[in-house]
Amino acid sequence: MNSIVRLQPEQLPQLVELLDSNGLPSQDCAEQADIFYGVIDQDRLIAAGGLEPAAEFSLLRSLVVHPRYRGRGLARLITEFLVAQAQAQGSQAIYLLTETAADYFEHLGFCRVSRDRVPVAIMRTRQFASLCPDSASCLLLRLPPN
Ligand SMILES: CC(C)(COP(=O)(O)OP(=O)(O)OC[C@H]1O[C@@H](n2cnc3c(N)ncnc32)[C@H](O)[C@@H]1OP(=O)(O)O)[C@@H](O)C(=O)NCCC(=O)NCCS
Repeated sequence: MNSIVRLQPEQLPQLVELLDSNGLPSQDCAEQADIFYGVIDQDRLIAAGGLEPAAEFSLLRSLVVHPRYRGRGLARLITEFLVAQAQAQGSQAIYLLTETAADYFEHLGFCRVSRDRVPVAIMRTRQFASLCPDSASCLLLRLPPN
């Protein structure tokens, strides 16, 4: 059950439903269809996350686990997978925005950073520019060079 797969276009409606029902923005999922990964259990998407490239940086976004499957390490598994992906792509750092899970990401090694210190390429992503509320915390994980 716990293997991570790249989501296929036909799985996008399930992703949108999972994000919507857990209070995360989903408006740009269709235009970013190839950046999402997830865990499927019996044809059902139970956890997901996305890694959006932005110049030499990455935006970790849309990390979500169905409430019934929380506390089993699925979010950690997906985060570690996305961090490895970003590292393999030569990304210098991963940024993310969250309203409710800043402590969670700090536990995984991310540091809080002021929004005005974020690179322009990250600021221009739709998540940053318009979809995530201004009240969301911004976190950063620097990656070592390959
Ligand atoms: C945040 C979220 C992804 C965690 O998923 P998960 O699979 O339950 O997380 P894990 O199993 O990897 O980790 C569970 C641990 O993190 C802690 N944790 C979970 N959510 C947390 C939060 N919002 N803040 C701080 N700690 C949190 C749990 O208490 C648990 O701690 P323990 O291991 O000491 O018992 C999930 O709660 C979720 O989908 N929330 C709604 C969407 C969201 O806020 N996404 C993040 C912003 S992009």
